[in-house]
Amino acid sequence: MDIRDAISPYASPLFLLLFLFLFLLLHMPPFVSAIDVGIGIGIGIGGSPEPEPGQSPGPSGATPTPAEPQPCEFVNQKQYEAYKVIQRFKKTITCDPKNVLSTWVGYRPCNYRGFYCGTPPGLKDTPTIASVDFNGFRLCAPTLVGFLDSLPDLALFHANSNNFSSTLPLNLSALPFLYELDVSNNNLSGPFPAAVLPLFRLRFLDIRFNHFAGLVSPSVFNLGLQVLFLNDNSFNQPLPAELGKSPVSYLTLADNGFTGPIPKSICNTSNTLIQVLFLNNRLSGCLPSEIGQLKKATVFDAGKNQLTGPIPYSFGCLHKVEQLNLAINQLYGCVPDVVCQLYKNGRLLNLSLSYNFFTEVGPSCVELIKKGVLDVRQNCIPGQPDQRPPLECSAFRARCKYCPVQEYMPCINQKVSNGVHGVVLPGAATATAYNSYTALQPGDGPH
Ligand SMILES: *[C@@H]1O[C@H](CO)[C@@H](O)[C@H](O)[C@H]1NC(C)=O
Ligand SMILES: *[C@@H]1O[C@H](CO)[C@@H](O)[C@H](O)[C@H]1NC(C)=O
Ligand SMILES: *[C@@H]1O[C@H](CO)[C@@H](O)[C@H](O)[C@H]1NC(C)=O
Ligand SMILES: *[C@@H]1O[C@H](CO)[C@@H](O)[C@H](O)[C@H]1NC(C)=O
Ligand SMILES: *[C@@H]1O[C@H](CO)[C@@H](O)[C@H](O)[C@H]1NC(C)=O
Repeated sequence: MDIRDAISPYASPLFLLLFLFLFLLLHMPPFVSAIDVGIGIGIGIGGSPEPEPGQSPGPSGATPTPAEPQPCEFVNQKQYEAYKVIQRFKKTITCDPKNVLSTWVGYRPCNYRGFYCGTPPGLKDTPTIASVDFNGFRLCAPTLVGFLDSLPDLALFHANSNNFSSTLPLNLSALPFLYELDVSNNNLSGPFPAAVLPLFRLRFLDIRFNHFAGLVSPSVFNLGLQVLFLNDNSFNQPLPAELGKSPVSYLTLADNGFTGPIPKSICNTSNTLIQVLFLNNRLSGCLPSEIGQLKKATVFDAGKNQLTGPIPYSFGCLHKVEQLNLAINQLYGCVPDVVCQLYKNGRLLNLSLSYNFFTEVGPSCVELIKKGVLDVRQNCIPGQPDQRPPLECSAFRARCKYCPVQEYMPCINQKVSNGVHGVVLPGAATATAYNSYTALQPGDGPH
């Protein structure tokens, strides 16, 4: 899956073709060597095609005098402006282990490593910096302020695994075309970058593995995001009900300090939500039966939280779910047999319920335990191996329970799939395709 085929004027097939064409054109050997020659030996020799910026190519024999490069020496005014922004940023970079900066010279910023040009929507023949891809460059800079917010035609900014510090720019509204922002695995801090909220074209936001803290602006869920990766930061707040307004397909909130229950409004994401990771937070409260309406979900992971109550029968409606993880919580009661039947009737491959307080499993579940699909270690289920000590079970049983008693409800608006297990169903994922789980690694994986 390539999430980057986002709907956006800049990402239209035409743009991509143009992009490819420019890329090939600008990387053709004659062009490249012209630049090399210009930079290498052109200084001081009049008429060189590409003199070093800042050096005025005076008349033959004259000593070059340093001068600011002039707009007329660039392909267009936009590239001249971008050149100035890039050179200013270059001066702030404190480490460059891959020697990327050595290519950031000359009058053709479209040829710099990490920069790609395209013509912005509404213009003709005006290639300028449309995309930045610094993934894995491991550059260090004290801030992206004055750089990211000063390249106005950016559609993509990818900077996974660098060492950019401080906060994101406070105002990104000069970037109307931005639809992918990836600053994952950097050294960014401060509150949630609210500057992204006016970016109505944004489809992909990845800020995982940084030091962001505090509250996530609930209005991030009003954006048209298809991918939202917030994992491995220090966000701590009750999950807002606005979550249900998001058209997001891939949502990872793992490894933060989110609290409170999973909002019932999650049912309103059922037309889009495919993978969701609540893993390793401090979520509490009962599992809402609305989760059962997530008819497209292939991954639902709320492991390692403080969730309680029984598993709602509605989970038996998760006909697409392959990975269902509720391990390490305080769930109790009987594991509904309809959930285990998803192995035969649906696509279930892995059901993790270990380290809870379940007391009963039905016949389909017993079968899954034998097959190694269902893990019920460290519960309170009589007759199963590796359960909690009886004292722990009776202490838990004595505690007050406040979750509603579950009643069986038929699935809403859903055809029961007749998938036969072991047969590869169309669109069935393999473990390597769980891009939300890839997001739990700091590197550049899940795009
Ligand atoms: C950022 O710098 C720190 C300290 O030098 C280093 O430990 C870390 O690996 C760097 N991160 C990346 C992504 O290069
Ligand atoms: C943000 O930047 C835009 C365009 O550069 C400007 O018009 C606007 O006033 C700025 N907003 C704030 C709050 O500074
Ligand atoms: C990361 O940011 C902190 C401040 O937020 C700073 O003290 C530290 O030097 C930065 N680390 C690197 C490797 O730039
Ligand atoms: C789902 O969205 C509808 C329409 O916006 C709203 O009326 C309803 O309350 C939402 N459901 C939940 C459980 O929040
Ligand atoms: C099943 O899911 C659990 C929890 O996510 C994971 O730890 C385990 O490795 C998975 N098992 C398999 C066989 O994929």
